[in-house]
Amino acid sequence: MAEQKKKRRILKPLLLSAVALAAAIQLVPYGRDHSNPPVTAEPQWDSTATRDLAKRACFDCHSNETVWPWYSHVAPVSWLLQRDVDEGRSKLNFSEWDKPQKEADEAAKEVREGEMPPWFYLPTHPEARLTDAEKQALIAGLEATVGAKSEGHGED
Ligand code: HEC
Repeated sequence: MAEQKKKRRILKPLLLSAVALAAAIQLVPYGRDHSNPPVTAEPQWDSTATRDLAKRACFDCHSNETVWPWYSHVAPVSWLLQRDVDEGRSKLNFSEWDKPQKEADEAAKEVREGEMPPWFYLPTHPEARLTDAEKQALIAGLEATVGAKSEGHGED
């Protein structure tokens, strides 16, 4: 009995501080404003099928059409997601094709090598899990689309 009481004396404040800490970190401003910047220009997709596949597997981190799930608003997950999206957009942003996209020609390769979408994204986003056929279609589509981009590049 006494033993149990002692345990509770330690556990309760511990639990309360954990709750207080969890609440306090929600006030950190970073990652709280998940607004999406406007879409200014998209690449000339070779087909809507390619765009659909990219939307399923890439757009959350490489476009301004990010779908922010409820847990993306809860720290510390919100911080991780904000960082992924900021970093992803800075490397390749399908919504700002009017800006230079230096890594664009890497896109097909990243899919072929299984680097993108990142493995940790898939458990929470089953729609981004592509079949082999879809993967091949996306690789070919990205190659065609990015090729179209580099041809037109320099004119603008
Ligand atoms: C969960 C977010 C996320 C998703 C989904 C995602 N990426 Fe990325 N991507 C990133 C991040 C973060 C980086 C930068 C850091 C890195 O390279 O790992 C990146 C980098 C890249 C780069 C730049 C090359 C490099 O290695 O830095 C390319 C190209 C790319 N991604 C293509 C894609 C394509 C194509 C898809 C869809 C099939 C995709 N990504 C899906 C987060 C994502």
